Amino acid sequence: MPTTNSLDLEQTVISLFQQEGWQVRLASPEDKKDYTFELERGEECIAVQLRNHKAKVHVGYLEKFIDFLEQPDGARFTKGFLISTSGFSPSVFTYMLTEEVVDISLGTFKDSQIFWEMEPPPPPPREEITYIGVFTCKGGVGKTTISAHLAGAFALNGYDVILVDLDRQSNLRKLLGDGVYLPGPKGSLGATITVLNHDEWSEEDYPDIKVVVCDCSPEYDANPEEFIKRFHYCIIPTILNPLGINKNADVIKRTFRAIRQVNSEAELFVLINNYHADEDKRNEVLNDILKREFKDLAKHDPKCHYIDPEMVAIRFSKQLLYWGYHLVEGSKPQLAFREIAGRSFPKADFLKLLDYLEDETTIEAARE
Ligand SMILES: Nc1ncnc2c1ncn2[C@@H]1O[C@H](COP(=O)(O)OP(=O)(O)O)[C@@H](O)[C@H]1O
Ligand SMILES: [Mg+2]
Repeated sequence: MPTTNSLDLEQTVISLFQQEGWQVRLASPEDKKDYTFELERGEECIAVQLRNHKAKVHVGYLEKFIDFLEQPDGARFTKGFLISTSGFSPSVFTYMLTEEVVDISLGTFKDSQIFWEMEPPPPPPREEITYIGVFTCKGGVGKTTISAHLAGAFALNGYDVILVDLDRQSNLRKLLGDGVYLPGPKGSLGATITVLNHDEWSEEDYPDIKVVVCDCSPEYDANPEEFIKRFHYCIIPTILNPLGINKNADVIKRTFRAIRQVNSEAELFVLINNYHADEDKRNEVLNDILKREFKDLAKHDPKCHYIDPEMVAIRFSKQLLYWGYHLVEGSKPQLAFREIAGRSFPKADFLKLLDYLEDETTIEAARE
């Protein structure tokens, strides 16, 4: 919902640019979804996207703007300005500073001025440890991949993370060894992901840790109950494919039931993995079916959520498919966040997931 009258705001921002000698041209109605107006001065031609929403701008919006600027339609622009009336999520800064994105400046409009943002805000202190489980009663849906890269998104945002391997196959241990260090953006301090077995984790031994991500075993009974009890959030990866859809609803049902045996408080999030974002029509149909099934399941449990893949999904990517190739090469453990042609879809997706979790959950309330 816009916070103030959008037209007034647009006029105010436009006049700020006009005072600085910019020629302003409003976007046509068809172009409005991509940018709000354009600026021209000498050789420069800038697409300006003005966002007037209560919530901070997320990586999802930034990515859409980048997509537009990289397309032929956006090619005539020499750069982009993304201007928000409510600031930007920490993940937006992480994304900007770690990707070789097209030339974009972030501005916050406040007190009739634009403040150009350079620095990410320091991560806010976390009072309590947040436990996040990644659990589906099924193998091969992406639990290990998602837990490692979700931990990676926290680390990119400056939090040290513990990644607990609850699976007897110990895939995390094989893939990441004792852990991995992620350097911070542009010379800033990075953060560490430490991989532990469940019996190696104790809160007293790691007093600075505020985030624990658990890669669960698909066999419910193999997961130590004391961990499931502690989960504040649980991510339930699933895949949107026709053969699996009814079966998947059943798997989701079993997964919900298993968690609820010992934990009635955790917020449960169904997350689509292996998403093919270019398959609009088929995705829409399959998504509607799964969403309907999910609604039935969640009727009696308000803490179950279905993350609409239009908002956040983990896209199918070659980087995630071949994650672990370092084992074959005998090189150092790493995550699949490396940019290819300047972009990393996995990084964007996991930062979006973090944005979503920070925003959407009532976890603070649930803890009281
Ligand atoms: N988004 C994705 N895109 C491409 N490949 C993926 C993706 N997520 C997982 N994979 C691949 O799917 C396989 C199973 O994933 P994994 O995380 O091991 O599942 P689980 O832990 O649930 O058994 C792995 O080979 C992984 O590389
Ligand atoms: Mg696994």
